[in-house]
Amino acid sequence: MTPATHKWTAADIPPQAARLALITGANSGIGFHTALELARARCGVILGCRDRIKGDAARTRILAQVPAAHVEVLPLDLASLESIRAAADRFLSTGQHLDLLINNAGVMALPRRQLTRDGFELQFGTNHLGHFALTGLLMPAVLSPGPISGAPMSRIVTVSSIAHRGATMDLANLQWERGYRPWPAYRRSKLANLFFGFELERRLERAHAPAISIVVHPGVSNTNLFASGPGQGRSLIAKLTPAFIALFAQSDAQGALPTLYAATAPEIRGGRFYGCDGFRQMYGYPVEVRAETQAYDEALAARLWEISENLTGVQYRLPERQS
Ligand SMILES: NC(=O)c1ccc[n+]([C@@H]2O[C@H](COP(=O)([O-])OP(=O)(O)OC[C@H]3O[C@@H](n4cnc5c(N)ncnc54)[C@H](OP(=O)(O)O)[C@@H]3O)[C@@H](O)[C@H]2O)c1
Repeated sequence: MTPATHKWTAADIPPQAARLALITGANSGIGFHTALELARARCGVILGCRDRIKGDAARTRILAQVPAAHVEVLPLDLASLESIRAAADRFLSTGQHLDLLINNAGVMALPRRQLTRDGFELQFGTNHLGHFALTGLLMPAVLSPGPISGAPMSRIVTVSSIAHRGATMDLANLQWERGYRPWPAYRRSKLANLFFGFELERRLERAHAPAISIVVHPGVSNTNLFASGPGQGRSLIAKLTPAFIALFAQSDAQGALPTLYAATAPEIRGGRFYGCDGFRQMYGYPVEVRAETQAYDEALAARLWEISENLTGVQYRLPERQS
């Protein structure tokens, strides 16, 4: 972890006028606060949401605080490749450049094994494969020339978790057909986020592409994630989890800071991991952190990439390297 004397907050976000961000899962929690603070800094924000009513409500909440904000809702269900393709097509048809893609949406520790529309285990399918497909499809907009010459490079920020620690990446059982367990499945999806974000950076760098890829984690933050995931379990511990988190975790606004830092701070470098500076990185202010050693396994990341291309049918088209 790098020492930080200055505690970075949303007040440090540089002006974002004429920039555009797409945030997945922006109707609640960390995604909502990411969108709100970007909008406050005059970034145009597109809320990628699976539920239109929740998306519209989030838009209204942002406009209540930032009346001049440019906010749109983009229907996007990351548990459906058809929906992801429709969302990407809709965005690409506008011809807009995408400055920031925030891969934030997620589901956690679902008590029973569930599947996406395409038959992927729901956590791996939503958290990793959905974002893998979305990012690949939006790459033309990310890499297109922006409206302002000399503007900062586009950034792709993927939200992982300290829960990646201790994950196993069993490539032969990615869909958990054998031995499904809620937390190991979540851990693996979050390790996959790290593999993806780091491998994407290596590929962008090799292609000399005008974008960087960064991975972040929000510590432990009080959001709907706990009620909608582990809170659905039958045990008393499961039922009490959301209340326990509400008592002890940091706020969702604080949890959005590492994402906002990675998306906007000038000192950010591609291929790095940013989290929180508190005890065991569970809370605090944004700093660069190190992921568990296995997250830097380039051979495994490349294999997961290839498998992800095959499963989603999305091939990344990066420019040929310019010498
Ligand atoms: N909170 C924490 O302590 C914590 C810790 C580590 C990492 N994270 C990560 O932070 C990210 C944001 O989660 P959060 O804590 O802010 O929880 P949250 O409030 O539950 O937000 C999750 C968002 O993802 C959306 N989502 C879920 N499945 C989706 C799908 N199939 N398609 C599109 N959107 C979908 C949810 O939409 P609905 O409202 O429609 O369900 C919601 O907007 C996740 O990637 C999570 O893994 C959170």
